[in-house]
Amino acid sequence: MTQVSDLNTQLVACGQDHLVDYLLKVTPDSARDAITAQLETIDFNDLGVLIEKYVRNYTPAASPASIAPAKYYSLDGDWDRAGYQAKGEELIRASKVACFTVAGGQGSRLGYDGPKGCYPTSCVSEKPLFQIFAEGIRRSQGKYGAVIPWYIMTSPLNHEATQAFFAKHDFFGLESGNVMFFEQGVMPSLDAQSGQILMADPMHLATNPDGHGGAFKALAVSGALADMKNRGIEHMSYFQVDNPHAMVIDPVFLGLHAFAEESSGEFSSKMVAKASWDEKVGVFCDVDGSTEVIEYSDMSDELAKQTNADGQLAFNAGSIAIHAIGVEFIEKIVSNPEYALPFHRAVKKVSHFDLSTGQTITPSENNAVKLEKFVFDGIPLASKSIVVETGRVEEFAPVKNETGSDSIVSSKAIQTERAAQWLEAVGVTVPRKADGSVDATIEISTLTAVCSDDLKGIDLPDAIEPGSTVTL
Ligand code: UD1
Repeated sequence: MTQVSDLNTQLVACGQDHLVDYLLKVTPDSARDAITAQLETIDFNDLGVLIEKYVRNYTPAASPASIAPAKYYSLDGDWDRAGYQAKGEELIRASKVACFTVAGGQGSRLGYDGPKGCYPTSCVSEKPLFQIFAEGIRRSQGKYGAVIPWYIMTSPLNHEATQAFFAKHDFFGLESGNVMFFEQGVMPSLDAQSGQILMADPMHLATNPDGHGGAFKALAVSGALADMKNRGIEHMSYFQVDNPHAMVIDPVFLGLHAFAEESSGEFSSKMVAKASWDEKVGVFCDVDGSTEVIEYSDMSDELAKQTNADGQLAFNAGSIAIHAIGVEFIEKIVSNPEYALPFHRAVKKVSHFDLSTGQTITPSENNAVKLEKFVFDGIPLASKSIVVETGRVEEFAPVKNETGSDSIVSSKAIQTERAAQWLEAVGVTVPRKADGSVDATIEISTLTAVCSDDLKGIDLPDAIEPGSTVTL
């Protein structure tokens, strides 16, 4: 336990005198103990510098000297898909690949009060996202005769609820010993004017999850990384909890990641062609000679709108946040402070307890700075990083917003469209309306198929009835 005097010195050194004063007078003792315990989890070595840089003296980063669209393996490119698939399958069969899902976010845009992975998502049976992935992993384990451990990063906001959900549903048929949950860290939420740490209530600091880039540290401190090493895992198949179409394990992608000459097997990514210049996805770029994701909020309209001679967007490689990451790479990142990922600042509304008035304030304007790390900032730290194109319908049906784009309604339409395309590829007639949309609602369970080829040899109807609802 940190000595009170040491803690006070650290607090004063980064401008948090208000907390020193509060700790002196707060009662009961349990409140002081709770706040002290929370403060002890904060890394004060960096905090003062971060507050100066991102709050008190914030200036946006200068634009890079040279920025160009990133190169990628295109869907119709001349590369040996079958060869890489065979190599990737070998890795999976040897139980050298694990799945890794980041599920620690607050999900406030979805307006759902619970871990996002529990959100009912599949288009007919409304299976939650976690079940869709769990069943995909079960199907893949059977297909490759392998164990595929699953690591799930939660945050203090949803850790217990996530574990309880899996326990209640018997881990959706997975071995509980092969599913590991670990919590990401948090950062204190800071007053946007003064840089002071805000209080959530009289007994707790206001904090926010430290971003999915907190995953590297959390993998190490939780023991998940050591667990992977013990199991002989060499690569992780990384996906976000919000995308029911994420292929939990993709042999072609893993084969390229681990064996292509252009890849160091450290950090590879999937992309889809952007739907529009202002689609809210990060974009793979070549920045001063290395591959990076530029987040949509950081990309200028001018750059985003640029087109090639054929009228296509020049910066069209949209990130769907699916990656393959080498276990050795994670060790490299966490063991060397030089590879610390940068923070990004988000200015948000944060309700808080005002120490001077004793009132709880619900702000109507943005009042706080949240600091987060992004996992894709690891990409330029890889010595060679590749980007691989995938089909938009095939692998991107995110559920992020309550309505409109990337909502449950848009996701369900894409889910039916993919199911229809998979069925058509194996000769089933699917009814379509004049505008080309599917005249049915079709769900293909991830227990039945994780790709169109899995439908080959399965007993299927010759045709889907117009207007029908089908689950396979
Ligand atoms: C994200 C990507 C964007 C990409 C898009 C694709 C970021 C910053 N941007 O946008 O480049 O094109 O997905 O769908 O990620 N999460 C945590 N812990 C956290 C914060 C987030 O686990 O502290 C998880 C969430 O649970 C979610 C994922 O990260 O699974 C995405 O986070 P979110 O902040 O919603 O990013 P998007 O704006 O959707």
